[in-house]
Amino acid sequence: MTDKVRWSEFDKLHVIRRLRELVGKWWKIQINFTDTKGLLRGVPDGKFFNPLNPICKAVISDGKGFESCRGTARQTVVDTTRSNDARLSRCHAGFSTLTVPIRVEGKYMGCVFGDGFLVADSAEEQKVRIKAYLERSFTGRAAELNAHVDALPVLSEKEIAYLTELIEMVVEEIIVSQKRVSEEQEKVGELSKELGTRYGFDRMIGKSAPMQDLYRLLDRVCDSEATVLINGENGTGKELIAKALHYNSRRKDKKFVVVNCGAFNENLLESELFGHMKGAFTGAIRDKKGLFEEADGGTLFLDEIGETSMSMQVKMLRVLQEGTFTPVGATATKRVSVRILAATNRELQKMVKEGMFREDLYYRLKVINLTVPPLRERKEDIPLLTAHFLTKFNKERNQEKTINHSTLERLINHDWPGNVRELENEIERCCVLVGSEPDILPDLLSQHIQDNAKNKYPGYRVSGRLKDALEELEKQMIFEGLERTRWNKSKLAKELGISRAGLIMKVEKYGLDKRTI
Ligand SMILES: Nc1ncnc2c1ncn2[C@@H]1O[C@H](COP(=O)(O)OP(=O)(O)OP(=O)(O)O)[C@@H](O)[C@H]1O
Ligand SMILES: [Mg+2]
Repeated sequence: MTDKVRWSEFDKLHVIRRLRELVGKWWKIQINFTDTKGLLRGVPDGKFFNPLNPICKAVISDGKGFESCRGTARQTVVDTTRSNDARLSRCHAGFSTLTVPIRVEGKYMGCVFGDGFLVADSAEEQKVRIKAYLERSFTGRAAELNAHVDALPVLSEKEIAYLTELIEMVVEEIIVSQKRVSEEQEKVGELSKELGTRYGFDRMIGKSAPMQDLYRLLDRVCDSEATVLINGENGTGKELIAKALHYNSRRKDKKFVVVNCGAFNENLLESELFGHMKGAFTGAIRDKKGLFEEADGGTLFLDEIGETSMSMQVKMLRVLQEGTFTPVGATATKRVSVRILAATNRELQKMVKEGMFREDLYYRLKVINLTVPPLRERKEDIPLLTAHFLTKFNKERNQEKTINHSTLERLINHDWPGNVRELENEIERCCVLVGSEPDILPDLLSQHIQDNAKNKYPGYRVSGRLKDALEELEKQMIFEGLERTRWNKSKLAKELGISRAGLIMKVEKYGLDKRTI
């Protein structure tokens, strides 16, 4: 069990956010977390205490008042270190404070408390004390602040029990989340101990067996001068591998030049690769260096090599064999030192058989042949890649979104015809669509990814309309039950076979509370 508590995470947990909103809305009570030293933690937006009533707001904006509030927070720790129960106490200004300790596997980790309210039995006495405090501490503003005293929330005994239950739910959620973090950390620890497991090579991510094989091969060929042919479906990371090869080679300080062989017609590609002399063709107004020359000393990456015409293939073969070429319109040849990497998603061997690709060039290119496995054959890399892209887009967008477990399950179930690029685009899309929600839920995913998961697991996901219908039914049952039991939630929860806390959440979700309807 880890001792490190991730306070800042808690405010992002859906249940905690909902409970905080709920308690704030009903009673204007703010819920805070305190660590074992009595320091406030996880207060949203860096606001200290973040009080919701005007008197507490005035108190914390005053230097002395602020110090006293910190004292109250420290006192909550003193009060609860040795106890397991919720505790009702008073702050320096006379407000009530309700504190529940957090214990994870017996270890005290701090507490959660709500404050800024009055208790029915002692409300009048508390009001007198608060007014006296305001007279003493805010001489100039006392009258103005005193006017708010009568509007302070007063909680009945029943409401205190209710508030206790809600704060206990927050604590429960913290404990569950803390345990999950510990388990994850242990898992990562074990995984990293596995001998030889690598999570990546350069900027490439993946720990599956096929990727491990690929990394081992890359280790061996980085420093070689040999031509490498990289095979793989669309979006598998061919260009990323080419870059990794260059930036881990002796040529890394020179240029890495990419040419997309499929993007030019033959004449343009020739002048692009080999350059041309002034006047070689209409529009050639000055000499122009080709990419082979640009890449001199470095690496030239011939992407989509399968798209090159037969006559271009002859010229390429010559550069590969002799290291020389002739710019368009020139008479003399030029010599360069360039390492060639090539990539394709076509089956070159088949093209050779069909007479579409020169056999000699094919063998010249595939001195070393790397095949990048499609993502569907290394699904264990999906969580790692997802986390990687999530971190990347979170950083770019200055946000801290998380991915929901069932969303991740659906990503794993999808077959990814567009491979890593498709996954990357999907995560980026979700990071945009998620808006202000903290968690990426499955219904944010592209329809075809959701459909795919549905087809594989019939009944796995309730379709939009059925889900709505069920919710409508649930809402109706709860509403009728509340009326019948005169809002006796304990009784109704029993009847419906759910916990009281669960019912409270649903009542809030459907806006069925007495106060709001
Ligand atoms: N193993 C990986 N780890 C991290 N990112 C990856 C990985 N593989 C691919 N990517 C990312 O996926 C995207 C597509 O990769 P890349 O362009 O290298 O694929 P490609 O095989 O050249 O695609 P295409 O066939 O469409 O040209 C890039 O943004 C790249 O950074
Ligand atoms: Mg590419």
